[in-house]
Amino acid sequence: MADHQRRVYEEMLELLSGEDNPTPMVRLGKTVPYQQTRVYAKLEWYNPFGAVKDRVAANMIRDAEERGIVGEHQKLVEPTSGNTGLGLAMLANARGYTIKTPLSKAIPAEKRTMLRYFGADVEELDDSLCPAPGAPEGAIARAMATAAQPDYHMLNQYENEANIEAHILTTGPEIWRQTQGKITHFVAGLGTCGTITGNGRFLKGKNPEVKIIGVHPEDGHDIPGVRSLRQLKQTKLYHPDEYDALVEVDNRESFAMSMRLNREDCIIAGPSSGMALCGALKIIEDQPDAVVVVIFPDNVFKYASSFARHFPEVAAAPSGDAPASGPSLKEELLDSLVANSRNPHDTVEVSVVQEMLEQEKPLLLDVRIADQYSVGHLPGALNIPVAEIAHRRGELPENLDAPVITVCNVGNASISGMLVLKSLGYRNVKSMNGGTAGWMDRGLPTE
Ligand SMILES: Cc1ncc(COP(=O)(O)O)c(C=O)c1O
Repeated sequence: MADHQRRVYEEMLELLSGEDNPTPMVRLGKTVPYQQTRVYAKLEWYNPFGAVKDRVAANMIRDAEERGIVGEHQKLVEPTSGNTGLGLAMLANARGYTIKTPLSKAIPAEKRTMLRYFGADVEELDDSLCPAPGAPEGAIARAMATAAQPDYHMLNQYENEANIEAHILTTGPEIWRQTQGKITHFVAGLGTCGTITGNGRFLKGKNPEVKIIGVHPEDGHDIPGVRSLRQLKQTKLYHPDEYDALVEVDNRESFAMSMRLNREDCIIAGPSSGMALCGALKIIEDQPDAVVVVIFPDNVFKYASSFARHFPEVAAAPSGDAPASGPSLKEELLDSLVANSRNPHDTVEVSVVQEMLEQEKPLLLDVRIADQYSVGHLPGALNIPVAEIAHRRGELPENLDAPVITVCNVGNASISGMLVLKSLGYRNVKSMNGGTAGWMDRGLPTE
């Protein structure tokens, strides 16, 4: 048995959290407005590999090993938005397994790089930020195809009950003990929903009066790890009838709160922690004896590139004495041009495109390669791959004020398409967020 008083361990896995080795809870001061309600952040980056998902990775592997599904020299494959992959990669290292992680290029570069650094075989795909089960070219489909090979196994955090169980066995009991049974509200952001469902079941089992509150981002958000209401409908572990309330928080508020947590409460919280806290503050009143626990899934360091995009003032200025191996000034400027173009003036949501198609009748310009276009595209969309736009100018409207919407798979290449059109002088062009995948997620028709 590890001695958690002395905190001297024989190996890293002894640090996995549990009732006798809980992650810390810290009371929030300046970021909460209450006089009476006490709000505690449960700091999940104190797990050994940096996130709440270490619990899930460890429990899914333990469960699969006990069932005899996973064993010596196992090859794992798991679609991931980062944290589960990072936890699994380390558990795989400890166990002598290998792991392949198909994931979206929209996931912050920090997480993709660290996955490789930990030894995972990372496959980068043009998927949306949250892998969608139906997307034919998405991370989940790719992982399933790999898992169909005889020597691979996919633990599948989106469906595996051991994800929920991880929280019934560890997080829930920790919180119950840390609050001495006084918790009145449990708050968590929603991704796979393992956290909310597992903690909800455990805490309501102890006291049915504990309120279980789920927080989700808006459509088109860029907070890794969490899902909008529409994206949640695809998640098997999402059981809304077991939660007392669901709250939506917008992207801007989430990032702003994360910054406040860092600057005011000295808590190095990432964006989904900011989101969860905003949700708690929206729904919970100031009242005597209220004890609120909010899960803070991971810390800020994995999201430097997201923060530089949201708060350009914190992005490093290009410096003359940058190391020769770093990106050139031209590359940095191009990156920041692309990042800055993701602003509300240059992008448009699927719902707005639907309205525009009725009214302004914009030209839909699908900038993917012909093979992708022919699999399915928005009705009436013209196909000119981004690399060919400049040469095929003759096919574009003569009027430089004509409305044009650029579209791709998920809303990345369409940004480049929009920039190329702007460089050709088109003044009324926007890139559609979410791309064809986002369009299909809404059940809208393609041809
Ligand atoms: C950063 C972050 N926040 C929140 C969550 C949501 O947790 P869950 O998947 O248990 O719903 C995740 C899950 O990946 C995450 O990585």
